[in-house]
Amino acid sequence: MNKPFYITTPIYYVNDAPHIGTAYTTILADVISRYQKQLGNDSFFLTGLDEHGQKVQDAATKRGVHPKDHCDEMSKSFLSLWERLHISNNDFIRTTEDRHKIVVEKILKTVYNAGDIYEDEYEGLYSVSEERFITEKEAESGQFRDIKKLKEKNYFFKMSKYQNSLIEHIKSNPMFLQPEHRKNEILGFLKQPLNDLCISRPKSRLNWGIELPFDSNYVTYVWFDALINYITAPGFLNDKILFDKYWPASMHLIGKDILTTHAVYWPTMLMSAGIELPKTIFAHGWWLMEDEKMSKSTGNVINPMDLIDDYGVDSIRYYLMREMVLGQDANFTIKSFINRYNSDLANDFGNLLSRISTLINKNYNGYIPEASYMGEEENKIKSSCIDLVEKFDIYMSKMSINEAIEETLQFVRKINRYFEHMAPWKLVKEDLSSAATVLYTGAEGLRICSVLLSPIMPERTKILLYVLNTDSKIRNWGGLDYGKKLGEHTPLFPRINTDNI
Ligand code: MSP
Repeated sequence: MNKPFYITTPIYYVNDAPHIGTAYTTILADVISRYQKQLGNDSFFLTGLDEHGQKVQDAATKRGVHPKDHCDEMSKSFLSLWERLHISNNDFIRTTEDRHKIVVEKILKTVYNAGDIYEDEYEGLYSVSEERFITEKEAESGQFRDIKKLKEKNYFFKMSKYQNSLIEHIKSNPMFLQPEHRKNEILGFLKQPLNDLCISRPKSRLNWGIELPFDSNYVTYVWFDALINYITAPGFLNDKILFDKYWPASMHLIGKDILTTHAVYWPTMLMSAGIELPKTIFAHGWWLMEDEKMSKSTGNVINPMDLIDDYGVDSIRYYLMREMVLGQDANFTIKSFINRYNSDLANDFGNLLSRISTLINKNYNGYIPEASYMGEEENKIKSSCIDLVEKFDIYMSKMSINEAIEETLQFVRKINRYFEHMAPWKLVKEDLSSAATVLYTGAEGLRICSVLLSPIMPERTKILLYVLNTDSKIRNWGGLDYGKKLGEHTPLFPRINTDNI
C-alpha cells in the first residue's frame, strides 16, 4: 500500500488539434492512475505537449504566427479538453518550458562527455513528415511521405554501442516491453545492426528547437528533446527527493506507432546518461474508423467534443475502455457506441439504480432499509461480489481493462436477474422485511460496482454514490449504511433513441 506509481502519456504534437486517438491514451492513463489511487498508491500522472520540431514550426508558419504563440494557443485547447474529459493529471509538461530545456541540455552534455556523441557528414534519405533519416528499405515501403535526399553535417548519438545491453535488458526484464508481440517486434528489429541516431538539425533548416550546448549552429532533434520530458517532470534536476520517489517510471503508455522511439532510442539514451530505465513501456493499438487509422490527413477524425456534448463524458470513457482490447486495434463506430451505451449503461447499470431507488422511495419513504438476514440467494450475490473484486484486480494488473469492465457488468446483470427472481416489487406487498433484504443486497452490490467503475466513469459513479447517500469507497461487502435517505436523481444513462439516428 501507498507505493509510488508513475504513469505517463506521450506528449502530443501541437500541430494537430486533439482528437479521439490522442484523447484515448490520456483517458487510459487517467483510468490507470485513478485505479492506483483507489488501491491506496501514490500515483503521479504526467501528460503534456511536444512543442518543438519541423511539424510545429510548419504549422505555425502556415498560420503566420510565431511558433511559441501557436503553442500557447494550442495548449489551451488540449488543457480544456483534458478538463472536460475529467483527466486527473498531476503535471502538464510543455517542452518549451525552461525546466525542460535545462534538463535536455544537461543530458546532452552528459552523453557528450561520455563520448557518445560525434559529428559526421551524412548523406541519406530524409522523411520530412517523420522528421528523420530513413533507410532505403523504409523508403521503398511506401509508408513515408515527403522524402528528400539530404547531405548534411550533423551530430550523432552512438546508439549502436548500447545495442547488446538493450537486448539483454529486454530479455531479462519480461515486463519492460508490453504486450508480448511488441517485445518480439523490437527484438526482431534489434537482430539487425542498429544505426547511430542523428540528434541534431542545422538551424539553417530548422530553428524551432533546443540549441545544442556544444554547437550553437544546431538545435536538438525533436525526439531526443521530447523523450526527456519523462524525467524533467518528476524533478530530475530540481527535486531529488521527488525524482527518487517516482523514477524509474512504472509505465510509459504509448501508441504502437511510436514504439521504436520509446523502446530503442529512449532506453539507450538513458543508458548513456547513467539513468535507470522505466519499468514498463506499454504500446496500445489504434482506433480505426472503418479499418482506417483516424488521422487529420485522412479527414476521418471523430471530434471528442461533439461526442461529449451529445452523450456525456463518462459514456465515451466507458466505450473507449470497454471496446479496446489493449494491444490490438479497435474500430470506432457510432453504431457500436450506441449499442454499448444502451445495453450496458442504460439497460443494465442505470436501470438497476432506477429499480432500487423507485422501490425504496415508494415503500420505505426513501430510506435505505436494513437487510435483516442473508439467505441463500443473498449469500450467492455476496460471494459473487467478492469474486468480482478479486478478478477485477487480476484483469487490471494484466492491463485487460475491457475484461475488468465486462466482469463488473456481468455482476450487474446477475443482480438484475436476482431481482427478477426475488421480485421485490411483489414482495413489498407481502413482506416488507424480506423485500428490504433484497433491496439492500442489490444496492450494496451496485455500490461496489460503482466503486470499481469509478476510475472509468468518475462523474456518473459519483452521482450514483450520492443517490445511495454513501461516501464509502471500500470494496468489501457491507459498506452501505441503512437508514440513510436516498438522494434524488434523473436517469443515470437515459436510453438513446435510435429511431432518428
Ligand atoms: N509527439 C510524439 C510523442 C512524443 S512522446 C515523447 C507523438 N505525438 S502525436 O500527437 O502524434 O501522437 C501521440 C499519441 O497518440 C501516439 O501514441 C499515437 O499512437 C496516439 N494516437 C494518434 N492517433 C491515434 C489513433 N487513431 N488511435 C489511438 N491512438 C492514436 O507521436
